[in-house]
Amino acid sequence: PDSMFTYIIEDEILMPNDAFGQHLATSERFDDEVNESILMEEAAKYYANILMPFSDLILRKIQELSNIKIKIIAPSHGIIWRSNPMKIISAYRKWSEGFSKNKAVIVYDTMWGSTEIMARTIAEGIINQEVEVKLFKLRDSDVTDIVTEILDTKAIIVGSPTINNSMFPSVSSFMNYIIGLKPKGKIWAFFGSYGWGGGAVNQMMEMVKKNNFKIYGSLEIKYVPTIKEIQDCFNFGKNIANEIKGL
Ligand SMILES: Cc1cc2nc3c(=O)[nH]c(=O)nc-3n(C[C@H](O)[C@H](O)[C@H](O)COP(=O)(O)O)c2cc1C
Repeated sequence: PDSMFTYIIEDEILMPNDAFGQHLATSERFDDEVNESILMEEAAKYYANILMPFSDLILRKIQELSNIKIKIIAPSHGIIWRSNPMKIISAYRKWSEGFSKNKAVIVYDTMWGSTEIMARTIAEGIINQEVEVKLFKLRDSDVTDIVTEILDTKAIIVGSPTINNSMFPSVSSFMNYIIGLKPKGKIWAFFGSYGWGGGAVNQMMEMVKKNNFKIYGSLEIKYVPTIKEIQDCFNFGKNIANEIKGL
């Protein structure tokens, strides 16, 4: 309700407020003056991190736009689309429909490295099945970059060691952020190392279940993975990749 489109009939200019924007600060003003791939990456980042929860509403608005002629789109944030306004409209249609590739995003953190071994081995299993994978260690990554990669992924795979019966704090913060963005049509999987009672993996599963997202499965390992458990991680990755290919 706090965001509305304004259309100037005489000049065929759409001023869509938050839609079609980017957090791209440049001295240039127009789409043809900046690097196209940076512009689209920034537009995707903006959509993924700000507009993703409103995907259904956005899809309806995009459909309404097909009835009007648009020469220029001037959003309230970032670059003005004057050369090819249809490019960003098509991208928004794709993103709001929940378009995804055969791709998995693995997000994890670790205290002593065991969950990291799991993450890397799961990634190897996915690659083995020729599915694209992006691997993010939370403490070294910007969460907005992770969410941009999640926009077109089929699987979100999250790993956390157990600390004080819970998720590692960076993972907990990530889980809250990504669940709030309500990513559409993804499968979720979880993994992590624990020492005795565990807890992190169950907590993540519960969060996702509460939001009715689809869970593929989970894998937990006690302390440092053995050779056999490393093989289990590899197979876990392979199986997720095959699930992705079947979606
Ligand atoms: C401060 C601290 C608290 C921990 N709390 C728990 C716990 O509550 N339950 C449990 O099963 N393991 C607990 N552990 C053990 C870790 O989960 C275990 O060492 C695990 O292998 C760490 O994984 P990582 O190598 O990926 O950090 C704790 C470890 C530390 C250092």
